[in-house]
Amino acid sequence: MNPLNHVAIIMDGNGRWGIKYKKSRNAGHKAGLKSVEKIIRETIKNKIKFLTLFAFSTENWKRPKKEVNYLFNLLENFLINKIEDLHKKNIKLKILGSKKFSPRLNKLLNNCEKKTSKNSRLQINLALNYGSKSELIGAFKRIKIKNININEKNIIKNLQTQNMPDPDLLIRTGNTKRLSNFLLWQLAYSEIFFEKKLWPAFNSKDYNRIIKEYRNIKRNFGKI
Ligand code: IPE
Ligand code: IPE
Ligand code: MG
Repeated sequence: MNPLNHVAIIMDGNGRWGIKYKKSRNAGHKAGLKSVEKIIRETIKNKIKFLTLFAFSTENWKRPKKEVNYLFNLLENFLINKIEDLHKKNIKLKILGSKKFSPRLNKLLNNCEKKTSKNSRLQINLALNYGSKSELIGAFKRIKIKNININEKNIIKNLQTQNMPDPDLLIRTGNTKRLSNFLLWQLAYSEIFFEKKLWPAFNSKDYNRIIKEYRNIKRNFGKI
């Protein structure tokens, strides 16, 4: 049975779900939050230590302003309403990506990170304004400034994921098979599951089915 320390999820398909069932993409984003809560609960039950959720990519700024604003309002309300609960559950929240938002949202994100920084049951990485290429460029720039060698160890140390294991498992919902600039370095040896269901329809049963299948994969890492 494979150990499972880190699950990463590309939560895709909100817009299509919203159009199909509620006639609006934004309704799909709202419904997607329910899946987030379910998956957090299930991650704890499975005793997984790291959960990385792709919530907004560096490319998602190309969406209509109305949708972008809706997404950030949703996030803000979610954090305001849930941070106490996450904290009580001993969950640590970390933001991946550059925090270039409104001063109000930046402050809220910093406060949530600070409040939960000592928690140890589960670390949730929320990838927000995150792009893997931009993360790698940042790492290379820091290596250059520090004038240290370009090697695997130094690259890992200068990524935003420096203090965590690489994802063992990547799940992308929404019936699309691509990485969309997510954790390109860190996913080098992850087991990847592309799931047909749209994110708001993804539930605990689906998650546990994937985890079960993952546990039984023969992971080679180049060996035989
Ligand atoms: C993923 O769902 C959520 C975000 C990118 C914020 P989408 O909004 O991409 O949903 P689809 O892929 O258009 O259905
Ligand atoms: C990836 O989904 C980003 C998030 C889930 C946050 P997208 O829906 O933005 O990906 P593309 O653009 O279809 O590749
Ligand atoms: Mg999408």
